[in-house]
Amino acid sequence: MGEQGRLELRVGEGARGLQALLINTESFTAMRQEGHPRLPGWDGDRLSATLERSRFQAKSGQTLALTENDGSVSWLVGCGTGLATAQLRRAAASSLSVIPDGLDWTLGLPLAGSVGATHVQAVMEGLLLGSYVFDLHKRRERSLGCCSVMVPSEVDGESLLRWTEAIAAGTCLTRDLVNTPAADLGPGELAQAAVEIAQRHGMRSETWSGSDLLERGFRMVHAVGRASARAPTVTVVRAGPKDVPPALALIGKGVVFDSGGLNLKPASGMLLMRKDMGGAGTVLGILEAWGRLGKELPLLAVIPAAENAVGPDSYRPGDVLRSYDGTTVEIGNTDAEGRLLLADAMSFARDQSPARMLDLATLTGAARVALGPDVPALFGTDEDLVERLLETSLVRDEPLWRMPLVKRYNEFLETPFADVNHMSSDSRGGCITAALFLQRFAGDVPWAHIDLYGWEDKGRPDVPKGANGMLVRTVVEVMEQLLEI
Ligand code: BES
Ligand code: ZN
Ligand code: ZN
Repeated sequence: MGEQGRLELRVGEGARGLQALLINTESFTAMRQEGHPRLPGWDGDRLSATLERSRFQAKSGQTLALTENDGSVSWLVGCGTGLATAQLRRAAASSLSVIPDGLDWTLGLPLAGSVGATHVQAVMEGLLLGSYVFDLHKRRERSLGCCSVMVPSEVDGESLLRWTEAIAAGTCLTRDLVNTPAADLGPGELAQAAVEIAQRHGMRSETWSGSDLLERGFRMVHAVGRASARAPTVTVVRAGPKDVPPALALIGKGVVFDSGGLNLKPASGMLLMRKDMGGAGTVLGILEAWGRLGKELPLLAVIPAAENAVGPDSYRPGDVLRSYDGTTVEIGNTDAEGRLLLADAMSFARDQSPARMLDLATLTGAARVALGPDVPALFGTDEDLVERLLETSLVRDEPLWRMPLVKRYNEFLETPFADVNHMSSDSRGGCITAALFLQRFAGDVPWAHIDLYGWEDKGRPDVPKGANGMLVRTVVEVMEQLLEI
C-alpha cells in the first residue's frame, strides 16, 4: 500500500523567515506598494523593482522566486482573486513544487480580506492532499520536510489541523485502495482493508466469503464474483453505540476489477476498471477519517466486493438471479454488475433498520456523459440527507448535482421473466435507470445514492493523477451534522 506524502504540518511561525507566501491579487497590489514585513531585506522599493521586472501577477498557480542577498529564496505563490477555498487549496499544493526536498519551511498567508478557519483549512488540505504519492510500485521521488503554516491568531489552528489530518488520512487511504492494481487488491484484500480499519478504531467487523455468501443470502454478489479465482466477499463494519439502530448505513460498490464479464468491455473501457471499487474505497476512507476523529455515531458500513471476471462459471445475460430480499432479477448485461452487489448489500442494510442509507458507486458511464468526471450524480428519497450532501459538497469544493428518479422510467426495467430486469430496455438516462433499480432495494429506508467517477485523469497540484478520494470530506462533515439531530 502507498503512503501519504511525508509532509508534516505544524501550526505557527517557523524559526526563520518565510519560504513561501500565498498571495492573492488584492494583497499583491498592497505588497507592491508597501513591501512585506516578513520578507527581511525586501523593503517597498526593492520589492516593487523586482516585481516590476517579473510577470508575476498573483494569478492562480503562478510562482515567483525572490532571492535575498544571502542566497536564500522566498517564493510568492499566487492564488488569484479573492479567497475562494478551491484556489487556496490548489495554491498551497502548488507551493510544494517549489520547495526543495527535505527543507523545513514556513508558509505564510498574507491575504487581503479576512482569513478565517475555512481558508486555513483549505490551505492545510492543499498541503496534505497535494503531497500524496502512491508508491506501491514506484519509488518515491521526493522527501518533503516539515511545513509550518502561519495561522491568524483568531483561528484555532491546532484543532483545525487535527480535523484536517483525519480527513486527509481518510482521503489518502481511499486513493491508495483505488490506485492499487487489481492484481494486488482482490475482494479478500479489500475486505481485509475494512477489517484493519475496524481494528484500528475499535469498530466491529464481520466478513463472509465464497459459498458462505450463498448461505447468508448474498446470491447476487456471489453470482457476479464466482467466475473469478478470487472469491467474492461481503464485509460489515459497525461503529458507535451497540444495540441501537444505525443512524446511517454506508454501502460501497467494491468491484475490484470490472472486465464487463461475458459482456466484455472494449480495451479502452476496461483500462481504468481497477477503480471500480471506488465506492467501497470511499466508504473505507470515510470510516478511517471518522475513526480518527473519534466520534460516536451508530454506524453501519457494508462492503460487497467481487471481481467481474470471465470464466467457465460466469453469470450470463438472460440468467435470473434471486436477490438477498427475494426479488428475482433478470440479467440484461453482465457489465451492469455494480447494481447487483449494491442491491444485496442494501437489502442487508435495510434489515438492520438504519435511519437512512447512502450508497456510493462508480456505477454508470452515463453519469459521466451527463456531468463529466468532476461532478458525481446524486439521487435520493431522503430530502434531508440530499440537501445536506448538496450544501456541504458545494462548501467543500466537491460539488454534487442532483438527478431525478423519474418514476415512469421504471417501465424500462420491466420483463416477463422476472420481477425486474437490472438493465434498462432504453439506452438513454442510464444513470437514472440504474438508480431506479437500486431504489427498489432501499424499501422504506430514506436513501441517497452517489454515482461517482473518483479519478483525476490529468493531475492537478492538489489532486495528483489517479484516484482522487473525492467526497470523503463531504460525507464526513455530513455525518458530523447527523450527530446533532
Ligand atoms: N463500472 C462500470 C461503470 C463505469 C464505467 C464507471 C466507466 C466509471 C467509468 C459499470 O459496471 C458499467 O459497466 N456500467 C455499464 C452499464 C450498462 C451495461 C447498462 C455502463 O455504464 O456502460
Ligand atoms: Zn460493469
Ligand atoms: Zn462496474
